[in-house]
Amino acid sequence: MKNIILIGFMGVGKGSVAREVIKHSEYIAIDTDDMIESMENKKIKKIFQEDGEKHFRALEKKVAHWLQTSVKNTLISTGGGFYKQKNIKDIGLIVLLDSPFENIIKRIKEHPNAVKKIKKRPLLNDMKLAEELYDERRPEYLEMADIVIDVTNKSAYDCAKELLRKV
Ligand code: S3P
Repeated sequence: MKNIILIGFMGVGKGSVAREVIKHSEYIAIDTDDMIESMENKKIKKIFQEDGEKHFRALEKKVAHWLQTSVKNTLISTGGGFYKQKNIKDIGLIVLLDSPFENIIKRIKEHPNAVKKIKKRPLLNDMKLAEELYDERRPEYLEMADIVIDVTNKSAYDCAKELLRKV
């Protein structure tokens, strides 16, 4: 089994799809944001506030290096900006969860914990800037992906099944 790296914009559902994939396969899942929070013993929001985005990206770099050298047979769920780390193609197969910006935001806003979900993501606090970030990143996501899954209006279960069929 090759590593699978789940990439995609904030709120697209990487965590939910990862949870379904591990339920229906032999994969074990890890999450780069969870790793960073444990490394620092701080929430991502606090890392951005107190140490800045630059520090956060340096932590992502550390995690990317560890993944490249030490991880096998794993589903790796990533933060929305993790794809920018160098050589992530060396880690494994890149799977993009893709959806239009409006749908991603609609999905977050319909979540019972919507306020919390938006607040914990510093780069979603300003929706106009978030949309600009989406427009800038989407072509880069597409270029980098080995497999693209359109998650629009699909359940996490269906996306996971599609992913397992395609990898
Ligand atoms: C970020 C996405 C977040 C988290 C951080 C930065 C980004 O992860 O890594 O807030 O640059 O897109 P999610 O994609 O899980 O929200």
